[in-house]
Amino acid sequence: MTDTVQQVLILGLGLIGGSLAKALRQRNFCPRVVGYDRNVAELEAGVSLGVIDEAALDLPAAVTNSDIVVLAVPVKAMETVLAQITPHLKPGALITDVGSTKGNIIAAARPILAGQLHRFVPGHPIAGSEKSGVAAADGDLFRHHKVIVTPLVENSAADVQTISRMWQITGAEVLQMEIDRHDEVLAATSHLPHLLAFSLVDTLAREEDSTEIFRYAAGGFRDFTRIAASDPVMWRDIGQANRDAILKQIDRFSEGVSKLRTAVAQGDGETMTGIFTRAQSARQHFSRILSSTAYANTMTTNDVTFHVQPGGSANGTIRVPGDKSISHRSIMLGALADGITEVSGFLEGEDSLATLQAFRDMGVVIEGPYEGEVKIYGVGLNGLQQPPGPLYVGNSGTSMRLLSGLLAAQSFDTELTGDASLTKRPMARVADPLRLMGAVIETAENGRPPMKIKGGQPLKGIHYDMPMASAQVKSCLMLAGLYAEGETSVTEPAPTRDHSERMLRGFGYPVAQQGNLVTVESGHSLSAGKIDVPSDISSATFFMVAAAICPGSDITLQHVGINPTRIGVINILQLMGADLELLNEREVGGEPVADIRVRYAPLKGIHVPEDQVPLAIDEFPALFVAAACAQGQTVVSGAEELRVKESDRIQAMVDGLKILGVDIEGTADGAIINGCEAFGGGVVESHDDHRIAMAFTIASLRAREAITVNECANVATSFPVFVELAQQVGIKVTKEEK
Ligand code: S3P
Repeated sequence: MTDTVQQVLILGLGLIGGSLAKALRQRNFCPRVVGYDRNVAELEAGVSLGVIDEAALDLPAAVTNSDIVVLAVPVKAMETVLAQITPHLKPGALITDVGSTKGNIIAAARPILAGQLHRFVPGHPIAGSEKSGVAAADGDLFRHHKVIVTPLVENSAADVQTISRMWQITGAEVLQMEIDRHDEVLAATSHLPHLLAFSLVDTLAREEDSTEIFRYAAGGFRDFTRIAASDPVMWRDIGQANRDAILKQIDRFSEGVSKLRTAVAQGDGETMTGIFTRAQSARQHFSRILSSTAYANTMTTNDVTFHVQPGGSANGTIRVPGDKSISHRSIMLGALADGITEVSGFLEGEDSLATLQAFRDMGVVIEGPYEGEVKIYGVGLNGLQQPPGPLYVGNSGTSMRLLSGLLAAQSFDTELTGDASLTKRPMARVADPLRLMGAVIETAENGRPPMKIKGGQPLKGIHYDMPMASAQVKSCLMLAGLYAEGETSVTEPAPTRDHSERMLRGFGYPVAQQGNLVTVESGHSLSAGKIDVPSDISSATFFMVAAAICPGSDITLQHVGINPTRIGVINILQLMGADLELLNEREVGGEPVADIRVRYAPLKGIHVPEDQVPLAIDEFPALFVAAACAQGQTVVSGAEELRVKESDRIQAMVDGLKILGVDIEGTADGAIINGCEAFGGGVVESHDDHRIAMAFTIASLRAREAITVNECANVATSFPVFVELAQQVGIKVTKEEK
């Protein structure tokens, strides 16, 4: 192929051919775009509308002068047109097409092009409209749409590149796919829905009272059947060209409809809810499905920056969202229980939603969340089904580690994947003890995700001395222990959050506890119930510290979980001299809860007692900010786990606080922080870590200048309404989304 394309010839000036011609002209892909169409009126319209530079009246001559010939004719006509043009191709010229089936076109091209097959680079733009004809040509039709190129083994990389470049110039994203795969995918995503739309309208139109039906058919019918106005001839051709793949999809669809029919006939609300909730979340999150992961993405991919001005305050009464750890566990245990579990106060953050979606993908019917309410139709300990693809859990370490224990005991294979940050986090801490129980798990290098878990492995109970204080590891092994032969027990080097133990007992599953040793045995079951999730003390922490460092502040945080394994932050702040009171202490669903009032009082530096570290493990980013405002020196030690959280939290806080002018030094397992009167301003990086982002936001309360915090999108993983609540209490933060 010559490096520069002088002339493109488009054969067939319909909607697709016309739009491509127009786009190539508008974006100056080449000096000349020539069109050819059997319909002379269309061709003339093409010239007068400025869609093409020139109309080809003599086809052989036009072919001979072109560097790229695009077949934009109906699928059925491709063969005839190819035979017509092949003898006239100039040396080095390329042919491509826009057909929505590929296998049959390539089969037809093979004998015609014979030794010249390398010149044919098949393509398919996934764009269109129910309109047809050159008058509908739209130079932006392909912008932000996908074009699939299905290279042949005979094609050179350079020629594939030339055709790809032509499509990229129109604003399209070019993807490559194998030919058979293309036909299968298109049968499902395009051919089946078009055929169904035609069939539905035809079926209804044949009814005697069809005028009545159409008169009252409102939005739903209109939306569902828009594509039934497409070109019938084209669709007949596609129906013939992609027969086998379409038949497969019709059969799958018929199976689905017949299941739904049975559910309707039997008034089976659970099955209907299952189908509708799965479809709803899938429909809302197409993009994740396109990247062929089972999890319907709720992860924010936008680039989010927080801009915070100094001079804010922290006053008022607020309720922060539900506890993340308890929310995860409510879905997991609710799914494994017998009966229906109703959850209120569920955290609608991306992490806990990832767990929720994982269980939907494993066949559990879950309604909601609607304003924190979730209804889980438990399937029992042995009722999970194999998910359709890898379970994508985004940023959530808790989802991956707890699920790995549960999945190691299932009869089916699974794969757990996550985002870039999670993919760097250690999973050997769960994979190793699970292997001792008999699990078969593959991880990527150095024990990183993805985790590939083999099903059908009988597990046996073990005793495990945990080398680190981790509630995730403990909970993972307890979940595996529900299925393992005999007893599974774990000793923790220091107490860690015990939400799994409490909730298992709440579901009627016996858990034995002796000091730092926790034991479960298989052979029992869980019975569904109600779960009231308290507010997350880890989210409340940002406002507790905000009030503790900002003169004049007085804040009350309602309904916060104060489980003794989570109150390190309260103990540490009180040791530092914070004015912090617990009000209205009560117990809700097996978890202690209180309102927490914090008023400003000067803080002093302390050596944080190491036994408090696991009890405040997620609170250190905010506590570093408190320490930086305290009088004197604060030393944090025994906190090496902070280095393997969503980011290396020691490094992230040291780097950011230094930018704000703080005298701080990181150590292997903590930091030495010298307090100061006020921070400077500047741009700090959160490293996509939600808690780092929120910690630097509250730092503004003691800053003299503005602070910009980069990469804040993941705040949505644990605290989706953080900015709104921060504004409500008087913090001068704004969110910029790019
Ligand atoms: C969690 C345990 C902790 C914590 C995480 C949630 C849990 O992790 O940091 O945010 O829900 O079990 P580790 O077990 O790694 O300490």
